[in-house]
Amino acid sequence: METQAVYRHKPVRSFVHRQSGLTPPRRDALTRWLDQYQLPLDQGQLNWARIFQRSAPLTLEIGFGMGHHFLKQAQAFPEENFVGLEVHRPGIAAVLLEIERKKLHNIRLIVADAVDVFKTSLPDNSIDRIQIFFPDPWPKRRHHKRRLIQPAFCQLLRKKLKLGAHLQLATDWEDYAQQMLGVLEATAGFKNLAGPGHFSPRLAQRHLTKFEQRALNLGHVIRDLQFMGIA
Ligand SMILES: C[S@@+](CC[C@H](N)C(=O)[O-])C[C@H]1O[C@@H](n2cnc3c(N)ncnc32)[C@H](O)[C@@H]1O
Repeated sequence: METQAVYRHKPVRSFVHRQSGLTPPRRDALTRWLDQYQLPLDQGQLNWARIFQRSAPLTLEIGFGMGHHFLKQAQAFPEENFVGLEVHRPGIAAVLLEIERKKLHNIRLIVADAVDVFKTSLPDNSIDRIQIFFPDPWPKRRHHKRRLIQPAFCQLLRKKLKLGAHLQLATDWEDYAQQMLGVLEATAGFKNLAGPGHFSPRLAQRHLTKFEQRALNLGHVIRDLQFMGIA
C-alpha cells in the first residue's frame, strides 16, 4: 500500500522565543504572579468589564518587550485599563515584578502570539487604543513575511478597535515604516491622522525604551504612525 506523507505547515511567527535574561528573581516572579495577571484564553472571548471590574478606556500594547513604555503609561493613567500582549518571558517577568512593586491595579497580561489572540479571543469594537512600538523588523527580504504588520492582521486590528479609536505604531526601520504606511492606508476603515502618505509627529505619550535608545544611538530615524478607526 502506498503511504502518503502528511505535511504540516508551521505557522509563520513574527518572533523567536528568547529566554536569555530569565534571572532567578524573574523566574520566581513568573511562578508567583503570572497566574494572577495573565488572562485565560481557553474560556471564550475576553470580557473587559468583567476582567477589570469597571468600565474604563482600554489600551492594548502588543510586544511591550521589557515593559518600559507599558508600565510608565499604566502608572500615569490609573483610571484607565491596560493590557499587555507579549511572548518574551523575561519581559513578562520584569513587568510582573514592577506591577507588584508599584501595586498597579490596572494591568493584565496576555501571553501568546498576537495573531492568534486577535483571531480568537478579543471582542470586536472593544479597544480604545492599540500600540505596537518597534515590532521586530525582520530586515532580510526573505524574512519580510514574518513582519507583524501585514494586510490580514491590520484588518483584525481594525475590527477590534472601536470607531474613533487609535492605532499607534513606531519603528526605526525605514522600509518597514513605508510598509506600515502602505498596508494601513490600504486597509478599509483606517484614516491616517497625519494625512495620506505622511508619518505622524512623535506621539506625546510614547515613552523612550532601551530599544528606541539603541536605534537612536545607531543613527536610525524613528517613524511614528497614528491611524483612527472610521466607518
Ligand atoms: C523589538 S521588540 C520591541 C519591544 C518594545 N516595544 C520596545 O519598544 O522596547 C518586539 C517585541 O515584540 C514581541 N512580539 C513579536 N511578535 C509578537 C507577537 N506575534 N505576539 C506577541 N508579541 C510579539 C517580541 O517578543 C518582542 O519583545
